[in-house]
Amino acid sequence: MSSKNSVSHHSKSTNLLLPNRPRRLRRTPAMRRMVRETQLSVNDLIYPLFVMEGESHQQEIISMPGCYRYSGDLLLKEVENVFELGINAIALFPVIPEDKKDATATESYNPDGLVQRTVKAIRQAVPEIVVITDVALDPFSSHGHDGIVSEDGIILNDPTVDVLVKMALSQANAGADLVAPSDMMDGRVGAIRQALDAEGYVDVGILAYSAKYASAYYGPFRDALDSAPKFGDKKTYQMDSANAKEALKEIALDIAEGADVLMIKPALAYLDIIQQVRNATQLPVAAYNVSGEYAMIKAASQRGWIDEKSVILETLTSIKRAGADLILTYFAKDVALMLPGT
Ligand code: PBG
Repeated sequence: MSSKNSVSHHSKSTNLLLPNRPRRLRRTPAMRRMVRETQLSVNDLIYPLFVMEGESHQQEIISMPGCYRYSGDLLLKEVENVFELGINAIALFPVIPEDKKDATATESYNPDGLVQRTVKAIRQAVPEIVVITDVALDPFSSHGHDGIVSEDGIILNDPTVDVLVKMALSQANAGADLVAPSDMMDGRVGAIRQALDAEGYVDVGILAYSAKYASAYYGPFRDALDSAPKFGDKKTYQMDSANAKEALKEIALDIAEGADVLMIKPALAYLDIIQQVRNATQLPVAAYNVSGEYAMIKAASQRGWIDEKSVILETLTSIKRAGADLILTYFAKDVALMLPGT
């Protein structure tokens, strides 16, 4: 009479007298679903996409299997596909040809540049999807840094902010919903907010990479964009991975400067930061499950060492459980296909 999942309610054996037995609520799948505290949803996901010049062309990124650089026409198809899967937002990153890069990243605010053209085309083809554009110099700078570099190799803050403002305005003009400064210069959120408002883009929001750490987990992304710094590292602007209080300082500044959404990046080695930021603000909190985190899961599952689907769900659930409302992830499409309904 007893099924596999039923418990004996009348056990005569010498039961321990326990005031509580947590296992009661884990007994069946329905019971577990009923008491589940964290529910990953396709609504939480933002899909990063790489766009390059050309036509009918796509290239797989070697260190990010399953992710591609797309020419504009194929990217549009991919955006349609992504929106049909129920994903609400994409974050766009451009692959800029070497001959268009220069020391001050002038191509970044070309009104007819790759990003600007692509955003306009997405606005036409898939008007409802949320388009997020990256505001940083590195894809456009000949030296690969996120800022303007002085003769003695210092990354100059305020001259860089001037370029970031121009870039953000040109992206807003093209139709971006959210501009996302990922550079970590001081004061850029406030400067961008003021400029957007002054130019009439009051409805364009700012998704601020507020606590962005100098991380070795960005390696595959820099392969994807050919954007690795040609000298030095990014430690004078991106944060020291050992610091948590400093993240709260950065968060407070970005809130005061007018950020709409706050981001922590990377996600997995910084779950404690996500949790602290969650507790410190009422704003939506985003986390970036970055390229290196993606590559590790892909590499191990390709060798058959871990079960890919289970590890993806466990990983993204941990980021949400830590307190992220939104997750930028290269797994967004996989998850949309795995989750029941939308
Ligand atoms: C550049 C930028 C980086 C990423 C997003 N924007 C790399 C960097 O700061 O060097 C990394 C994303 C990823 O690794 O998935 N401003």
